[in-house]
Amino acid sequence: MLEEARERTLLLIGPLNEQDLHLQHDSLMSPVIWDLGHIAHFEELWLTRNLDGPVEFVEMPGMYNPFENPRRVRGTLALPTLTECRAEMEEIRARVLERLRSADLEDGNKLLRDGYVYAMVAQHEYQHNETILQTLQLKSGEPYRAPRRIRLPSAPAVVPNDGAMVRFPGGRVTIGTDDRTEAYDNERPRHAVALEPFWIDAHPVTNGAYLAFIEAGGYETRAWWSAAGWQWLEDARVQAPKYWQRGAGGWSTRSMDFVEHVDPAKPVCHVCYYEADAFARWAGKRLPTENEWEAAASWDPVAGRARFYPWGDEPATTELANVDQLSFGTARVGAYSRNVSPIGCYGMIGDVWEWTSSDFSGYPGFVSYPYREYSETFFGNEYKVLRGGSWATRPGAIRNTFRNWDYPMRRQIFSGFRCARSEP
Ligand SMILES: [Fe+2]
Repeated sequence: MLEEARERTLLLIGPLNEQDLHLQHDSLMSPVIWDLGHIAHFEELWLTRNLDGPVEFVEMPGMYNPFENPRRVRGTLALPTLTECRAEMEEIRARVLERLRSADLEDGNKLLRDGYVYAMVAQHEYQHNETILQTLQLKSGEPYRAPRRIRLPSAPAVVPNDGAMVRFPGGRVTIGTDDRTEAYDNERPRHAVALEPFWIDAHPVTNGAYLAFIEAGGYETRAWWSAAGWQWLEDARVQAPKYWQRGAGGWSTRSMDFVEHVDPAKPVCHVCYYEADAFARWAGKRLPTENEWEAAASWDPVAGRARFYPWGDEPATTELANVDQLSFGTARVGAYSRNVSPIGCYGMIGDVWEWTSSDFSGYPGFVSYPYREYSETFFGNEYKVLRGGSWATRPGAIRNTFRNWDYPMRRQIFSGFRCARSEP
């Protein structure tokens, strides 16, 4: 797992020169070389020092500590050259693999049991890969030459019943998981929740539907926006999703080095929470809560249990969903016929992260593990939860219970949404 994770990291950075790696392309993002050093030092902390010495349940001190060095200052750090950084990554990895030879994965130690800490470190690298892709999409200078290795399956250019909804019958469902082999602390514990019946979009909101919102004056109509959303809009002065451009021939959009006409059948991407919320109000709907989202993705009303993935319990693959980065873009909705949940929601895993209306907080009985700075530090009303992963998410870092979070104004992330409605 560790070797495969590293191969992917190196594939992604392959087209970058030293300047590309060291530039801070946007104040929101780290220089890519920082991500590389951070990946290696996180691995050193958890897979060497914390397995032997007293466990430091914190992020590692120094240059690669994300709290000591917030993103906006990372461009000013004395970061190593790629050659130096690669040497350090390899030196750390050699010690990690040496330590792994004597690791007892049946140990009572919760870190080692079932290889949890190894899965955590691999997952951390996967997640930083997606962060790096956000940076590369923002890259200054020549666009990033994306190593496109996955061809998206074809799908009809017209979405049948755009905006169609499916019904969730309501009742008692389970949310979250008790898994301790790969799940993060914020996904635990599994707990019962009673839901009212609700309706939810069968597909993520498409570019076509979003274009209708724009053309109906969505960005000029105060009534569709929350107070905070309108305030954001007045400051941001945008009129379309990030990376959309209006030209003589209509709207186009860019993913890395590929520019295309905005395809009405693809899910809208690079919208913030405020835009999603405004669209939903315009459409006479609302955003789902994260419990509704998870129930719609996982709950099998016939079996009376939650699935790990919409299609069942087998992990995500590139045959099942648009995940794993190398497609470098979204697929038309309906392109993955097996990516459907028991109640009939398509595309809940992959393509775009989906905004929910929920603040990020701990489930009842939440216990921070193994360090507060992964989740607990971010609990509160500042962040909104996103679900389902995107095309830029590695399969090992997504499942129905996986919770992502971000500020409601963020749109450099690969974010879209689907709407819900309460039953009248
Ligand atoms: Fe990290």
